[in-house]
Amino acid sequence: MRKGMLSTGIAGLLLAGLAVAADKPDPAKGKEVFEQCSVCHNTDTDDKKIGPSLKGLFKHAALKNGKKVTEENVKAFISAGGNGMPSYADLLSEAEKTNVIAYLKTL
Ligand code: HEC
Repeated sequence: MRKGMLSTGIAGLLLAGLAVAADKPDPAKGKEVFEQCSVCHNTDTDDKKIGPSLKGLFKHAALKNGKKVTEENVKAFISAGGNGMPSYADLLSEAEKTNVIAYLKTL
């Protein structure tokens, strides 16, 4: 009986751990998402491709649209697109956008 309760408790803890892991922004997963962006964006040099380099994006003073570089504004930019940047509103899930932003923050 005691043993049964203990393993139920452990299983519960494991499940809680998994749920937290799934919610946490994951830069490694974001890097995979970014593969489709890298046709247009450099991340290792400042050179422009079709779009501007995203190296050090979160150290820039502002985005191309003049807004401050915050997670929220970058997410809105990726969703909206424009000026040659595709709209990813329907192409990426919320989690994918969160992960790709976590990756951009590492650049
Ligand atoms: C077809 C080419 C293309 C693809 C693919 C593309 N982008 Fe862009 N992106 C652009 C262009 C062009 C701009 C500049 C838009 C502007 O000047 O308003 C831009 C701008 C941006 C900016 C703003 C940069 C700044 O300094 O303000 C971010 C962030 C961004 N893209 C992220 C992404 C992400 C993340 C992906 C993949 C999910 C992606 N882009 C895919 C062409 C592209």
